[in-house]
Amino acid sequence: MAIKTVLRMGEPCLLLKAKPVEKFDTEALHQLIQDLEDTMRHMNGAGIAAPQIGVSLRVVIFGQKASDQSINPRYPDADIVPYTVLINPVLTPVGDAVDEGWEGCLSLPGMRGIVPRYTQMHYAGFDQFGNPIDRLVSGFHARVVQHECDHLDGILYPMRINDLKDFGFSDVFFPNQDFQDD
Ligand code: NI
Repeated sequence: MAIKTVLRMGEPCLLLKAKPVEKFDTEALHQLIQDLEDTMRHMNGAGIAAPQIGVSLRVVIFGQKASDQSINPRYPDADIVPYTVLINPVLTPVGDAVDEGWEGCLSLPGMRGIVPRYTQMHYAGFDQFGNPIDRLVSGFHARVVQHECDHLDGILYPMRINDLKDFGFSDVFFPNQDFQDD
């Protein structure tokens, strides 16, 4: 177990364009994935990107393993997104349809905002062993992928909010909900 400190908005590392991974199935890469997974689970995140723990590489993880019995308390109503390690991702929107939806981020604890995202998304990339990944997704899955991959280009969700009136504290917007760490 290695739960890392999640960098918060304002840290320069979060604004960098992260570098591609050049070698797969290395000890260092497996360790990074384990650290991301431990940290995401500890924080009840829907996903996490390597730059959020100070590693400027194009690596994200998101979703839940089938063995996880408990529903993520931060996103109780969300569709189940399969646990995915996605490296050097390439995202391609499918169509022009955009949905507005609430998002949070481990780098902005206690905050929420309404963010427009493409409804349907094709994504490709590799897992930590170098196996190709190629998926067409929609809804919450598409939203999570776009959020996490934005981190690799130095984009945090508030930068995508159309109207900053839609940005604020979780416990003010949702006073009756019990948000945990975030
Ligand atoms: Ni985030």
